[in-house]
Amino acid sequence: MRIDSSLKSYPCTEEFRRWNAIFSVFALSLQCTCGEFLTLTLIKLNIFNKQRYTITSALPYANGPLHIGHLAGAYIPGDIFVRFLRLKGKDVVYVCGSDEHGAAITIKAKKEGVSPRDIIDRYNKQIKESFEQFGISFDIYHRTSEKIHHELSQEFFLNLYEKGEFIERFSEQYYDEEFHQFLADRYIVGTCPHCQNQGAYGDQCEKCGTSLNPTDLIDPRSTLSGKTPILKETKHWYLPLDKYQPWLETWLIEGKKDVLKPNVFGQCQSWLKLGLQPRSMTRDLDWGVDVPLEEAEGKKLYVWLDAPIGYISATKQWALEHNKDWRQYWQKQEDPNEDSTLIHFIGKDNIVFHCITFPAILHAHGGYILPENIPANEFLNLEGDKLSTSRNHAVWLHEYLDEFPAKQDELRYMLTSILPETSDSEFTWRDFQAKVNNELVSILGNFVNRVLVLSHKYFDGALAIGTPLSVADQDVLAELAKVPQAIEASLGQYRFREAQAHFMNAARLGNKYLADQEPWKVFKEDPERVKTVLYVAGQIVANLAVMGQPFLPFTSQKIFEMVKLPACGWERAGESDLLKSGHQLGETQLLFEKITDEQVDSQLVKLAAAAASTDASTIAPAKSNITFDDFTKLDIRVGTIVSAEKVAKTKKLLKLTIDTGIDQRTVVSGIAEFFTSEDIVGRQVSIIVNLEPRNIKGISSQGMILMAEDENGRLDFVRPDTTMSAGSTVR
Ligand code: 2FM
Ligand code: ZN
Repeated sequence: MRIDSSLKSYPCTEEFRRWNAIFSVFALSLQCTCGEFLTLTLIKLNIFNKQRYTITSALPYANGPLHIGHLAGAYIPGDIFVRFLRLKGKDVVYVCGSDEHGAAITIKAKKEGVSPRDIIDRYNKQIKESFEQFGISFDIYHRTSEKIHHELSQEFFLNLYEKGEFIERFSEQYYDEEFHQFLADRYIVGTCPHCQNQGAYGDQCEKCGTSLNPTDLIDPRSTLSGKTPILKETKHWYLPLDKYQPWLETWLIEGKKDVLKPNVFGQCQSWLKLGLQPRSMTRDLDWGVDVPLEEAEGKKLYVWLDAPIGYISATKQWALEHNKDWRQYWQKQEDPNEDSTLIHFIGKDNIVFHCITFPAILHAHGGYILPENIPANEFLNLEGDKLSTSRNHAVWLHEYLDEFPAKQDELRYMLTSILPETSDSEFTWRDFQAKVNNELVSILGNFVNRVLVLSHKYFDGALAIGTPLSVADQDVLAELAKVPQAIEASLGQYRFREAQAHFMNAARLGNKYLADQEPWKVFKEDPERVKTVLYVAGQIVANLAVMGQPFLPFTSQKIFEMVKLPACGWERAGESDLLKSGHQLGETQLLFEKITDEQVDSQLVKLAAAAASTDASTIAPAKSNITFDDFTKLDIRVGTIVSAEKVAKTKKLLKLTIDTGIDQRTVVSGIAEFFTSEDIVGRQVSIIVNLEPRNIKGISSQGMILMAEDENGRLDFVRPDTTMSAGSTVR
């Protein structure tokens, strides 16, 4: 059955009613041909009109400490959102935990010569403590190594297996002969066929986000031995994402085009355009959740199958501990209006798994709710460069907490104000100093402090209405009353930067009000008027405590104590008499201190030292100088490889015939471990054509091709970016 309107037609289906149930504002009622009235929603749904919410933040790998990039990606936005929901009186569970499986863990363990268990125990503890100290308010921080998680992951696998959802496939997979190991995920790197990133992993390119199979990689190399792997047959269980593509196009692309953030929607659309492929859900690894099939002994579940199920197992554990029913937070309810609203907060590199793979798994399993939204953030850079764990170019949360004790809100404020919501953004220590000093200290801290100090000075901390409220008083209170709605509207669209700016504007409003009313000047002549001014200003202070709770929880807590008001919910935000006439204020406390130049400089020195120590350990020192004349003696040309063949009885040598533009000549090159003949015929290279010929394995090698070699021994050709005619000079 269909309804017709001049705007759009929708089928009168159960699915439609389900959507309809959650649409709320600015809606238009139309009569369906079945006689029922349906509501045709013309603008985005209001995310805050449901009663129950299941909120997740990405499970961090327990293979290293947290840094500010993690916070800006998945945790600060998640925490602000959840704190807001709680203030709205919603039934919400906020889950997270350590992701303790997969190559991220085993590679780290191998590097350190310890067991994966040592690694996960160490980092789970550190990460959990950092989150707690920083004030990320998870209801549970769980672990994917727990039994309850293994069991649930296996239940999911078996459910899909028994329904015949998996494709069982023998295929040739990359294998490292030296380490006797199949190479999946982070065990193999190569060039991404989509964006040419040379460090793409076997399951995903973290630069463009595309999910990959190892065999998609160009120039694959083992991260264990650095060598080109061989192919070896093995059996795996594949999730047929191609089969779910039509469903994903309806559910995600049609159904969510108005609610997904543009950066998320764009990525999903382009992957679906490329066409989804079956993805292996099992691995030949010795660490992870066992595949629950006899014939799969020794195999483990793919970490990206089990990790998102970790959200559900964490909720199960939380429910056990709090006498709740986990099903209410994850499964479809009889009345769709009762379904929980599921929102995943993640970073950019996790989009494909949360928008495509996990929903496909939930859909295939059946009975589970699907994410309402996946408000992923882009990347955060640091001081003009990408954050990098391996180069130690990061601000580590545990170090920040040690070096800036009791300054959690300062970092929260800074990061919220630069969240990479729609594109990459940048943290610098100078900006941090400016934000803290010019905004938190000078605007928020200064306003609150002046109101408290003046109230104590003139009226012993008692707030009361003296003269009746003037027009200016009424205006400022009316402006204040608009702020909660503005914050709510921004949060409802995942615009955290904007929401926090609305909050800060309330403090600006307060400062302007004091500056205009000048109570310090008026007091002598009209103390009763000053009483009123401080009463009005006190309402602004109390409102800052209420409205600041999602953004600056530690500061709000302090302001509540200072004004002696019990913490209260969002329904009271904007009220103009949060503190009644006659209310007695508490002691003044300092909210923020300035960040000094010395503090900034010491952080910059620390970053520079980290860069110097990693560079020194990985990059070979420069050779001694040569003269310009020495350099001009080299005759380097662009050549084209015409043919290539392996030199008999050698592992590393290829015999190349190169068209140098001058002639065709033979060059013997030690690149056979990285390139096969088929790979390189037709490629352009740079060749030194005036090098004395050398005899290598009985072949006269007439020149040398230039290769770049990185610190891991990986080789690549030095060649022009665009095709040049053979014989072009390189200088
Ligand atoms: O990228 C990561 O750090 C992953 N450990 C995130 C997992 S999110 C979820 F699905 F578990
Ligand atoms: Zn890529």
